[in-house]
Amino acid sequence: MNNPDAFESIVGALEYPMLVATTVAGDARSGCLVGFATQCSIHPPRYLVCVSDKNHTYRTLEAGARAIAVHVVPESAADLVELFGGETGDDEDKFARCAWSPGPDGLPVLDDCPSWFAGRIVDRVVLGDHVGFALEPFDGRAGYDGLAFPFSRAKGIRPGHEA
Ligand SMILES: Cc1cc2nc3c(=O)[nH]c(=O)nc-3n(C[C@H](O)[C@H](O)[C@H](O)COP(=O)(O)O)c2cc1C
Repeated sequence: MNNPDAFESIVGALEYPMLVATTVAGDARSGCLVGFATQCSIHPPRYLVCVSDKNHTYRTLEAGARAIAVHVVPESAADLVELFGGETGDDEDKFARCAWSPGPDGLPVLDDCPSWFAGRIVDRVVLGDHVGFALEPFDGRAGYDGLAFPFSRAKGIRPGHEA
C-alpha cells in the first residue's frame, strides 16, 4: 500500500457505535466489545459481526455456539465498555461482574442494554485477523432510543486481548 498512514488516520477518525456481542456454547459464556459490525443485507435481514480470532469470545463461537446477542451500549454505560473491551474471558468471568439474564437460546442478555437482538449464525467468513459472523436476527428488544456509546470515547481503552 502506498500510504498506510492515510488509511489508519481515516478509519481512526470515523465515528461508529460500540456494541457488545455475547454468545454461549454449552456451559461457556463469552462476550466482547465490538466496533467492526454492520447490517449487511435488508432482504433477508442480515448483520455482520467481526470477531478477532485471538479473543476468548471467538473460541466460544468456534466451540459450537449457534447464535450471538448484539447489544447497543448506551452512552452512559462506560463500565460495560471497560469490562467487555478492556478485560478478557481468558482471565476472568465478565458475567460475574455485570447484571445479565438468560435470553433466547441461552444467550446472556445484559440488563443494562435495553436494546439488543439475537441472531443465528448463518455464515462465517475469514476476513483477516477477524472472522465475520453473518447473523439472521430471530429475537430482540428495542428498549433504548438514546445514542449508542461512540467509538471516539472507547478508542482509548487498551483491548483486553491483542487483535
Ligand atoms: C474501541 C474498541 C473496539 C473493539 N472492536 C472489536 C471488534 O470489532 N472485534 C473484536 O473482536 N474485538 C474488538 N475489540 C477488542 C475486544 O473487545 C477486547 O480485546 C476484549 O477484551 C476481548 O474479550 P474476550 O477475550 O473475552 O473475547 C475492541 C476493543 C475496543 C477498545
